[in-house]
Amino acid sequence: MALNIAIDGPAGAGKSTIAKLVAKKLGIIYVDTGAMYRAMALFVNRRGLDGLDEEQVCSCLRDASISLSFQDGEQCVLLNGENVNDLIRTPEISGMASRISVYGDVRKKLVSEQQKIAEGTDLIMDGRDIGSCVLPNADLKIYLTASSQVRGKRRFDEMVEKGESCDLENIIKEIEERDYRDMHREISPLIQAPDAVLVDTSDMTIRQVVDAIMKLVEERR
Ligand code: DC
Repeated sequence: MALNIAIDGPAGAGKSTIAKLVAKKLGIIYVDTGAMYRAMALFVNRRGLDGLDEEQVCSCLRDASISLSFQDGEQCVLLNGENVNDLIRTPEISGMASRISVYGDVRKKLVSEQQKIAEGTDLIMDGRDIGSCVLPNADLKIYLTASSQVRGKRRFDEMVEKGESCDLENIIKEIEERDYRDMHREISPLIQAPDAVLVDTSDMTIRQVVDAIMKLVEERR
């Protein structure tokens, strides 16, 4: 039986950093499902569609093929065969991904792709609905969170390090707006699955979080 680990939680909780490190320690792949919603958002943007118009967006889903490939353990997200990893981390795409991820047909398409990837493969997958919807039988489910202030400050520090200009209050506001949308959408809202373990990273170092999760993995094995 394959080992499937699900990590859910709000934006900026450190899911991808932690999941990558845990995947490396366990020698399994890390699947970032947010990148698939982002690739779909890029498709919508390129087509010049109105992200708020569900019918417009959903009527052209069949033209967008979104898949993943793994090179040296690194995930590449492919939009109609093109590696779009470097094009999906802009604020514009973040906003569009959050808007279109509320649509049932968008979710159905990507969830089915994610379930196919997980079948028979040892992996750690992160997102918003992994424990509650994509992998309901995951061996371990983690709900990773931190206060919006802490998440905003982490994002602020990252941007300052890259030399980008930014405003902390604004970043926190954007994070809270995104949380609200992700937690209050009708279909598959971001929730802690009843059998998920809550890990609040507000006062934890990355090392402490990785160690805590590794301990949980060992217990479940
Ligand atoms: O994790 P991220 O910031 O890259 O995700 C981008 C958007 O996609 C985010 O607003 C929520 C959405 N998303 C989702 O609805 N379900 C997932 N499994 C992953 C991401």
